[in-house]
Amino acid sequence: MKAEHKLLPLAKQAAQRAYTPYSKFQVGAAISTAQGETILGCNVENAAYPVTLCAERNAITTAVANGARPGDILEVVIFVDTEEVVSPCGACRQVMSEFMSQQANVTSYNRHGESKTWTVAQLLPDSFSLL
Ligand code: THU
Repeated sequence: MKAEHKLLPLAKQAAQRAYTPYSKFQVGAAISTAQGETILGCNVENAAYPVTLCAERNAITTAVANGARPGDILEVVIFVDTEEVVSPCGACRQVMSEFMSQQANVTSYNRHGESKTWTVAQLLPDSFSLL
């Protein structure tokens, strides 16, 4: 187990704001950007289930709305209050690949403070890109 990441308390705070009346599965994400900002995201569900937005994409797209561009998302920290460490879904991996360096880190924590860290390239090898 690693020392607590400085973004972890913020990811926990974001998880508490998750809107999850359907799954009750609360995810929080905290990211740092090249603009020096820290931006939070939580999952936001909808009665039309596929409309649901994941915490990671919520944070990344909010960062873009605040000025971030490809390569500017420096790191993503995720928190889920579960026994196992959760790994990001496929759609979020593709969006990470668009806005993060392939070597940038994504770290996910569980309720016990255990974590896994991956690079973006490890999460999505040979990703689709038009850039
Ligand atoms: N979810 C995330 O927010 N991030 C992930 O990486 C995996 C899944 C959310 C979507 C949905 O609200 C709930 O978790 C259950 O799938």
